[in-house]
Amino acid sequence: MSELTQTEKDSLTGALQERSAGTDGQGAAPAKLSAVFPSYARYDLSLVKGKGSWVWDEQGNKYLDFMCGLAVTSLGHAPEKVGAKLKEQIDTLWHVSNLFHIPGQDRVAALLTENSCADQVFFCNSGAEANEAAIKLARRYHQKVKGTDRYEVITFEQSFHGRTLATLTATGQAKVKEGFLPLPAGFKTVPLHDLEALRAAITEHTAAIMLEMVLAEGGIIVVEQEFLDGVVALCKEHGLLLIVDEVQTGMGRTGKLFAHQHYGIEPDIFTLAKGVASGFPAGVMLGKGYLREAFSPGSHASTFGGTPLAAAVMEATIETMLEDKLPERAAEMGEYLSGQLRAKLEDTSFVKEIRGKGLLIGIECHEPVAEIVLAGQKRGLLFVQAGPDVIRLLPNLYVSTDEIDQAVDILSELIHTYANKVSGEANS
Ligand SMILES: Cc1ncc(COP(=O)(O)O)c(C=O)c1O
Repeated sequence: MSELTQTEKDSLTGALQERSAGTDGQGAAPAKLSAVFPSYARYDLSLVKGKGSWVWDEQGNKYLDFMCGLAVTSLGHAPEKVGAKLKEQIDTLWHVSNLFHIPGQDRVAALLTENSCADQVFFCNSGAEANEAAIKLARRYHQKVKGTDRYEVITFEQSFHGRTLATLTATGQAKVKEGFLPLPAGFKTVPLHDLEALRAAITEHTAAIMLEMVLAEGGIIVVEQEFLDGVVALCKEHGLLLIVDEVQTGMGRTGKLFAHQHYGIEPDIFTLAKGVASGFPAGVMLGKGYLREAFSPGSHASTFGGTPLAAAVMEATIETMLEDKLPERAAEMGEYLSGQLRAKLEDTSFVKEIRGKGLLIGIECHEPVAEIVLAGQKRGLLFVQAGPDVIRLLPNLYVSTDEIDQAVDILSELIHTYANKVSGEANS
């Protein structure tokens, strides 16, 4: 990845320090209603350019990006090697139907299966679609290969699996389901870390248990090893498939290529999206070899899944991650970031807990943090929430200690200021 020159870095650092908390660094309000459906609560900012750890808005203000498009731009913005491969592919072939062989897909599948417990790969375009494919594969395996009447998928409270009808039903958060009734049948949600509730939910119709290794949207909740061992044992005992949703945790972010590798387990199925293609839309569902026959020709498909363009970007992204040992780097930088956060925030009781894995870090606070996120934007630092009270940090995997220091300084100042404001209001 190309680095910014020292002069560029200095000027960016200066910009960060100079932008006062009171300056409105946000974009102008739109003059008329947008023709885009208002399904997103958008920040009043338009980002138009990015390089490495930095993005620029329409007014030329610079921001240190510690959200990475929600865990997508893990190689930083506009990574050169991936961009070069994309441009080369643009001049060669954009799209062919999956009715033809696509050699790029085979190369990506080889990279993924050689570096994981999976043997088979299905390409699609997003995390929700990858999870849909996982649910479909689990049902079809039980119904067509095993000849059983198993269709139900058990998931966990606070989980997030996507916005299609099946994946929002699988999601353990009521807010994503509001107004979308009736929901598809065949899903049950139980509390996380409650093995007895899970055991009680299993019936002769259960096909699979699906979970994230770190519940990211749900508040950066790291799954406990003992609980996961219990889940694996229940799957074995009842002949269920274990599906791990690695849409946010996968591709190096947590300090291993895939987060389930921290736990020494082998899921039957796992899913990827976000970091797998540096910002190009792509999703992947991976499964064990014994599931192969469940997806016979015609059983599942996607027009745009794994096109030559998508495959070229995925191949370059994964190769770069492996060559530059980015999972190891994420582990190292994650330790550094958490350590710095603990050192700077240990004196404030406003912070409840700092937790996470690798470069997927949550700072749980005693109060809602939305104002801190907005204040961060005004100080030139981008980060997001994971639920109302948790600040979520997702820098790119090349992030430097210098950039981490800058982010931690700003964040610690923002949190201390806000904590004082809240305690002042409580005392007045
Ligand atoms: C764990 C997890 N699963 C699934 C999804 C859905 O992915 P997409 O928005 O690409 O459909 C997300 C998105 O945030 C996610 O974090």
